[in-house]
Amino acid sequence: MKILSIESSCDETAAAVIEDGRRIISSVVATQVEEHKLYGGVVPEIASRRHCEAINGVVEETLARAETDIGGIDALAVTYAPGLIGALLVGVNFAKGLSLSTGLPLIPVHHLRSHIAANYLAHPQLEPPFLCLVVSGGHSHIVEVQDYTRMKIIGRTRDDAAGEAFDKAARTMGMSYPGGIHLDEAAELGDENAYRFPKPKVSSSPYDFSFSGLKTAVINLIHNSGQRGEALEVNDLCASFRKAVADSLFDNFLLAANDLGYKKLVLAGGVSANRLLRRRADALCAEGYEVYYPPKELCGDNGAMVGAQAYYEYLAGNTAGMELNAAATMSIE
Ligand code: KG4
Ligand code: ZN
Repeated sequence: MKILSIESSCDETAAAVIEDGRRIISSVVATQVEEHKLYGGVVPEIASRRHCEAINGVVEETLARAETDIGGIDALAVTYAPGLIGALLVGVNFAKGLSLSTGLPLIPVHHLRSHIAANYLAHPQLEPPFLCLVVSGGHSHIVEVQDYTRMKIIGRTRDDAAGEAFDKAARTMGMSYPGGIHLDEAAELGDENAYRFPKPKVSSSPYDFSFSGLKTAVINLIHNSGQRGEALEVNDLCASFRKAVADSLFDNFLLAANDLGYKKLVLAGGVSANRLLRRRADALCAEGYEVYYPPKELCGDNGAMVGAQAYYEYLAGNTAGMELNAAATMSIE
């Protein structure tokens, strides 16, 4: 079954043709990041306009690279939640129009479910059940993936997402948006024990995260040393901050895995591109865990992951009609 999938939840306009949820036939991502860099973050109104301009060309290019036209497609899929509402609406309305004009079934896909599904494209042997750490710019969740379309949130952030904390820390250090990747690069050159950060704990919820305290700690440290005229070792600061975030993520993830009896662990979302998180995941394999994360090109937003999840949503009977609407927030459950 060939699915044409569309993604427009944030600042990439993307589409893909995916076969049976597991094989990428073609995938095109048009990023708007250069324009949003000017403002230090995504400007929702600009994002919507750029999606409108890009979506036709992205879908045409995706079909051309798959060496097919719409007649070779069996179903359409689109990210409908969560994300920037104006951005989501562009993809949703485009997909609805295409579904109406072609009669092809329309499959709505939850953005975080698709991040998890990016792993199915890279790891043919991976099947649920497993425990997943979903870390993106907007979310940090520990999710029990009981089946392809049955998920339970075990832990979540109480405030900032991990990616948001990375981006804000990086921005305070003068790095361009999205700063997470630059912070990660600088951290590779630094000493992770140079600076001490508080260990965030959420009382009575051992699996929940809190990153706002860590973020405030690094911002205060930078401002205070600036006021005193003291130089900071930026690479050391990045390495220490990255370690603090990784410790918090993995402490809770492993606690949940051991309490629930999961040995099969998966990372997903933009932050799973982080080098330290990937090394920590690799190290767990030596401790008897089976650990998966997506290749770097599938960590960030893309259309391929949407087509992967869409296949399983379709098998579960989750299709929509013209009543489909986008939603800025929606639980992964
Ligand atoms: O999943 P994603 O592409 O978009 C959302 O759905 O939010 O995640 C984007 C986030 C940004 O916060 C970005 O800074 C972060 O992923 N990110 C990283 C790295 N690469 C991307 N964070 C830390 N280290 C990285 N290497
Ligand atoms: Zn995303």
